[in-house]
Amino acid sequence: MIKNYKADIARYVASEYRNSLLTLSLKEGLWALAEYRFSHWVYYDVHIPILRQILGFISVFWHRIIITLTRIELPKYTHVAPGVYIPHGGSIVIHPDVMIGKYCTISHGVTIGIGGRGKNKGCPKIGDEVYIAPGAKIFGKISIGSYAAIGANAVVTKDIPEKGVAVGIPAQVISDKGSQDFIFTPERPVEPYWE
Ligand SMILES: CC(C)(COP(=O)(O)OP(=O)(O)OC[C@H]1O[C@@H](n2cnc3c(N)ncnc32)[C@H](O)[C@@H]1OP(=O)(O)O)[C@@H](O)C(=O)NCCC(=O)NCCS
Repeated sequence: MIKNYKADIARYVASEYRNSLLTLSLKEGLWALAEYRFSHWVYYDVHIPILRQILGFISVFWHRIIITLTRIELPKYTHVAPGVYIPHGGSIVIHPDVMIGKYCTISHGVTIGIGGRGKNKGCPKIGDEVYIAPGAKIFGKISIGSYAAIGANAVVTKDIPEKGVAVGIPAQVISDKGSQDFIFTPERPVEPYWE
């Protein structure tokens, strides 16, 4: 839990070029991730019944407070690899069965959820270093390849290949330039273009 949360903080620092204390106190995405990492840990890793019950109780209330404050719904059941970056809060909804790889960016207004019918019903699996721009909706039993970039307000209902850039409704792949210019990591931090 702590290790994964530290990776999230490091990702914020790499993406925003700020010191970690300032980043931590200002970013509502990190408030939500603190709750998510804690609740995920309690749900999957705490097996002592009484402790699980007490921490589970805290987790339920903390989760409701986070949703109210940040409008980020990241359920404890969802699997999110370390180093996720949520630049802004607001209208972010993620289904419990979604899987998200490492170093992804999830912008405001993004929904990643269940879709499809019958045997096609399911949730997306998102690869590593995927950039998801504001307002994008991704749903159904699909996979988004690593290093893909999903455009602002895109509606993605089909698989997107590795490094695919997808825009529009329904989303179409327009290039294979990928996410590399939009994803910053501790190994590859943002260069401050504003200085
Ligand atoms: C998807 C995205 C990452 C692709 O970036 P890119 O690979 O550099 O692509 P380009 O910007 O060169 O655009 C390529 C083409 O797609 C179009 N396009 C780009 N984004 C689009 C979008 N979200 N919806 C529809 N068309 C889009 C461009 O107009 C351009 O069309 P053209 O070839 O006819 O001129 C980017 O366009 C995007 O949506 N970024 C989000 C930006 C944003 O919301 N910033 C605020 C963050 S808080």
